[in-house]
Amino acid sequence: MNVLVIGGGNMGMTYAAAIATSNFLTDGSLMIFDKSEEKLNELRSKGLFDVHDQLATCLPKADVVLIAVKPVHAPGLMAEMKPMVSDEQLFVSIMAGVTIKTIRKGLGVGKVVRAMPNLPALVGLGMTSFTASEQVSRLELAAIERLLDTTGRSIMLPSESKIDASTGISGSGPAYIFYFMQALMDAATKMGFLEADARLLVSQTFAGAVELFNSSALSPEDWMAKVASKGGTTRAALDSMDGNNVNALIQEAAYAAFRRAEELGKQSEGKEVSHA
Ligand SMILES: NC(=O)c1ccc[n+]([C@@H]2O[C@H](COP(=O)([O-])OP(=O)(O)OC[C@H]3O[C@@H](n4cnc5c(N)ncnc54)[C@H](OP(=O)(O)O)[C@@H]3O)[C@@H](O)[C@H]2O)c1
Repeated sequence: MNVLVIGGGNMGMTYAAAIATSNFLTDGSLMIFDKSEEKLNELRSKGLFDVHDQLATCLPKADVVLIAVKPVHAPGLMAEMKPMVSDEQLFVSIMAGVTIKTIRKGLGVGKVVRAMPNLPALVGLGMTSFTASEQVSRLELAAIERLLDTTGRSIMLPSESKIDASTGISGSGPAYIFYFMQALMDAATKMGFLEADARLLVSQTFAGAVELFNSSALSPEDWMAKVASKGGTTRAALDSMDGNNVNALIQEAAYAAFRRAEELGKQSEGKEVSHA
């Protein structure tokens, strides 16, 4: 299988490096295409991929094409690709808010997978949700799942509406965790800790809690009950959060991202993509 990654930025490079260093491609090659000379030099210096600066030299050879440019560049890129693509090729897009309908129309092809990764893909701990057009076979889906799993874990969803929903949970989710971390670090510095100490207190607490959570089938509520004893310090904090409706506010934030993902998808179908 020949795989082509289009766009050698943060995500494209991450996927290309993950695919190149995994055992995904036992038979075939990994090509990467970008337009900027600076990016091309960086990609060449890695020595991991077959780097191209022209679509004509790589696109027709690809069985799977992973599109990793910013959504704002999608219309121009797809117009350039269209004369060189065929219906046998499979297109995987990680472009936020660009729908399968938009890609099928833009490229004039049938087989499209839309995937929503998240930032921890950069360190191999990504969470990617994906869905596909009906022309993609089960065998192809299994291969795409393995490809996406090179950057972490993945989940196949039944519809694009669920992709928008997962954007509100795992896609944008890392930022919610950073928000919580920042708030705790702010509290720690107010309590008199040096910034470096605040960073360590918070990051190790997050890492430890997640490791603990993953070590059993207990729910977050079960773990909270284990940590918080009646009349104790943790109970005081959890009661304060409950009293301020923090749970409902976090849910509302996730819904805000979900609604925004839906809006962006609609804009992409109306060719009004303007977000980065
Ligand atoms: N970062 C995330 O956490 C995240 C999460 C989910 C989804 N995504 C999606 O991943 C995609 C890539 O994001 P990113 O952060 O990796 O962006 P990025 O760093 O800007 O990378 C995009 C790359 O594509 C290049 N490019 C632009 N137009 C091109 C064209 N016509 N042909 C070939 N290459 C082209 C860009 O070159 P120039 O710099 O010269 O324009 C840049 O090197 C976006 O669609 C984003 O929505 C990202």
